Amino acid sequence: MREGEPSRTAFGAAALRAVHQEVDDPRIFTDPLARRILGPAPLPERSRERPRLRLFIAVRHRFAEDALAAAVARGTDQVVVLGAGLDTFAYRNPHPGTRVFEVDHPATAAWKREQLAEVGIEVPEDLTYVDVDFETDDLLERLVDGGLDATRPAFFLWLGVVPYLTHDAVVTTLSAIASIPGGEVVMDYVRPVAESEAVAHARRAELQATVTDLGEPFTGGLHTEELHALLRRLGFDEIEDIGRREIRSRYLGRPPGDEDGDAHVLRALRSR
Ligand SMILES: C[S@@+](CC[C@H](N)C(=O)[O-])C[C@H]1O[C@@H](n2cnc3c(N)ncnc32)[C@H](O)[C@@H]1O
Repeated sequence: MREGEPSRTAFGAAALRAVHQEVDDPRIFTDPLARRILGPAPLPERSRERPRLRLFIAVRHRFAEDALAAAVARGTDQVVVLGAGLDTFAYRNPHPGTRVFEVDHPATAAWKREQLAEVGIEVPEDLTYVDVDFETDDLLERLVDGGLDATRPAFFLWLGVVPYLTHDAVVTTLSAIASIPGGEVVMDYVRPVAESEAVAHARRAELQATVTDLGEPFTGGLHTEELHALLRRLGFDEIEDIGRREIRSRYLGRPPGDEDGDAHVLRALRSR
């Protein structure tokens, strides 16, 4: 990210969620604030030109919020949105009695608060903002200072952030979540794509060029097996991971096909 500036990919992801509300059929993720939080200006034309990325973003939020609803039904009442960007969950939270923490880089968080005020979206009383740089700060310490009870279950949404972080920051953040009994996370990640996977490789190169232009290049990828092994080592005992096949069958009602896809979304729970 550019020093002292809000995240520009956060705007891009929010624009794709807003366009999803208007044009995609089926609509996989319903977010009545997705368009409003962006203000009245027209959305960039490129948000209309990326149906595959838009689908993936819609799926990751739907998957995450469905998993969150299940966690709340089991008694979890602490929710942490990591690298929140313009995510609107906290402002339309359907789970009374849950406490929400939004974690982000200070510059992005400040920009979001200005944006909320400008468009008249109310900040709920049960929401706490926590400024963190995943690369340098102690996430858990900051959250506990902000009021999180790290001895009780907490659900973390970590969407659209992992591909931008160093491996060390990913491991440190997952370790913090795994240190909480009943800690649960939904995160998305990209797999490294070999040159031999020509179509996926070209698609990734194009996306990498876009995010690099925005000053937020992807840092690499995570191999599914290595990531699952890491999660187990850290103490997560329940892992659910979906790629392109499950996205097609579960959310589009189509045959799964052969393609695993380069972007995955994953849920991991430390149940004991
Ligand atoms: C692509 S945006 C995703 C935002 C949001 N989660 C969404 O799905 O729309 C990436 C987010 O990660 C945050 N981020 C990136 N690197 C970070 C870091 N080192 N520490 C804290 N936040 C970071 C950015 O500020 C931004 O909000």
